[in-house]
Amino acid sequence: LKHFLTLDGLDKTILTEILDRAESFLSMGEQSVKKVPLLRGKTVVNLFFENSTRTRTTFELAAKRLSADVINLNIETSATSKGESLLDTLKNLEAMQSDMFIVRHSDSGAPHFIAEHCTPNVAIINAGDGRHAHPTQAMLDMLTIRRHKGTFDGLKVAIVGDILHSRVARSQLHALTTLGVDEVRLVGPKTLVPEFFTEMGATICHDLEAGLKDVDVVVMLRLQKERMKGALLPSEGEFYRLYGLTEESLSWAKPDAIVMHPGPINRGVEISSEVADGERSVILNQVTNGIAVRMAVLSMAMSGQLQSSEVQTAGDE
Ligand code: CP
Repeated sequence: LKHFLTLDGLDKTILTEILDRAESFLSMGEQSVKKVPLLRGKTVVNLFFENSTRTRTTFELAAKRLSADVINLNIETSATSKGESLLDTLKNLEAMQSDMFIVRHSDSGAPHFIAEHCTPNVAIINAGDGRHAHPTQAMLDMLTIRRHKGTFDGLKVAIVGDILHSRVARSQLHALTTLGVDEVRLVGPKTLVPEFFTEMGATICHDLEAGLKDVDVVVMLRLQKERMKGALLPSEGEFYRLYGLTEESLSWAKPDAIVMHPGPINRGVEISSEVADGERSVILNQVTNGIAVRMAVLSMAMSGQLQSSEVQTAGDE
């Protein structure tokens, strides 16, 4: 049994194993995943301290398709409103013989904190913490790229928008460089794409046309206002004019470039409806692939295959 907290420290072999395991679930019925008994008798608890549509629902579907019992704790109506601490809540859930906690939290490092304080009998899966990491999102994005492009070799990938506040961008950058793409370009205004990302192997670009030139994959990110805390930012209209993905700006990428977005999308802010709903968009494929990737991660964690995913202390940056 191992935690899945971050992609840091996971090498190409284990990332490829996750993708291959996910692919095996998908290939059981292409885009529809059949029920398998791998987690029969196990109890999985969804603990979402921050809102979610895609991640919470696909984790629930993944656990159910692995035949686990699934509990969705409603944080707002739980006893935390009566003053119960996070750790006391977790100890009570542990006493109910839970096997896994799937944790989303607005604080970077919260799943790591929980992993350090829970018994070794419970595996912790990070479903997105602050601006730190969103490892299953990055892996479903990798599966989507591999299914559409066949390989990571030689690919140029542009990640466009609010990189600074994005846990998705951090996890994607780690996965893409580990899996061996040719180039990752981070594209956006200086206020949202700081230079320190070059130390993580990315190319920085503040001009959209230069950033999209000849790329194979375009990943758009929304402005994550909930994590901005008064930063100096462009207006939505100005952002769309300078960095929005429209049919015109998409023409700067390769003709067969795919368009991705982790969601939720903000139409007319970072992406036009024509592009989001267009034939090069694979945004809804990402969502479907999320079920298979989360099945892969849950089943591998339960069988102890995520060997290098040890508890680490996560900083905000
Ligand atoms: N991509 C993503 O994390 O979406 P949700 O916030 O809906 O889970």
